[in-house]
Amino acid sequence: MISETCIAPVNIAVIKYWGKRDEELILPINSSLSMTLSTDQMCAKTTAAASATFKENRMWLNGEEVPFEGNPRMQKCLDALKRLAEAEKSKRFPLEWKLHICSENNFPTAAGLASSAAGYACLVYTLANLYGVEKSELSSIARQGSGSACRSIYGGFVEWVAGIKNDGSDSIAIQVQPALHWPEMRVLILVVNDSRKKTSSTNGMLNSVNTSDLIKHRANVCVPQRILQIKEAIARKDFKTFGEITMRDSNQFHAICLDTYPPCAYMNDTSHAIVNFIHQYNETRGDVKVAYTFDAGPNACLYLLEEEVANVLSLLNKVFPNDNSENSEYVKGIPIDLQ
Ligand code: DP6
Repeated sequence: MISETCIAPVNIAVIKYWGKRDEELILPINSSLSMTLSTDQMCAKTTAAASATFKENRMWLNGEEVPFEGNPRMQKCLDALKRLAEAEKSKRFPLEWKLHICSENNFPTAAGLASSAAGYACLVYTLANLYGVEKSELSSIARQGSGSACRSIYGGFVEWVAGIKNDGSDSIAIQVQPALHWPEMRVLILVVNDSRKKTSSTNGMLNSVNTSDLIKHRANVCVPQRILQIKEAIARKDFKTFGEITMRDSNQFHAICLDTYPPCAYMNDTSHAIVNFIHQYNETRGDVKVAYTFDAGPNACLYLLEEEVANVLSLLNKVFPNDNSENSEYVKGIPIDLQ
């Protein structure tokens, strides 16, 4: 038996990916931009083993067995890696050997945050090590597992360029700035408990592409401008501009979710209370000091600089007191560079 274990980081988008132009290849209608977080607080961990004695491919996710063969995204990633192994004549073990894969994440259970991004990035990286293949194509392979996963292959600030080609060869993730460029940047994740059933990102964005009018304006007009502006803001370390663009993009993304028919409301009352809190905080401080962004769920991700963290956390604890349920859990993330 031969095995490999790897961990992969979470990324939190400040310009959101929402909508596909190709469902099969997972090609987006707009570029997106994120920061990759250090793995000590949140990460996915995968162990993959190959053996001549395994009868079938099997997979466990957070301790529970999940179907492997029936999962087309997983199969696509595996097939792509095997093709690479064949092309590179990698001979670590015979390619017909079956695999056992154990994957887990250490995120707070209620968070459900960016789990597919870290999960698929980790799966693809671990399998690449197992098969002993070159790492250059891993981001594109991870993208075919889950779009946002292509950004978790790189550290620091990462852009996923939408591209225009039908074969997806120009839809790639690139590092915009290393983490060391802005090491004071922090992310606070506020876990907001919500038991209501959610529409997955995959289904939500498909519905938005099919029914929302606003999504076209965002993808064609707003996002291209924002990507340019936020990259300049990151280069200048201009938090005010970075924060404002981040909040506007999150707000517009959720407006699109409401413009979807039937609408999908990912944010709840607590999420909206957090939005109000942040705007009040910034008003009191006389500048944009904290920015919120929400993915396809009620949990808030706050971007802020280290100098602001203690103050914001102490106020958050007063305004949203921790009642020892999972209602208010804070996870702090810092930017990371990967090897
Ligand atoms: C709101 O990458 O989970 O988090 O490609 O269908 O797997 P699929 O979708 P996924 O969507 C993430 C959407 C988002 C925004 C983002 O991370 O950019």
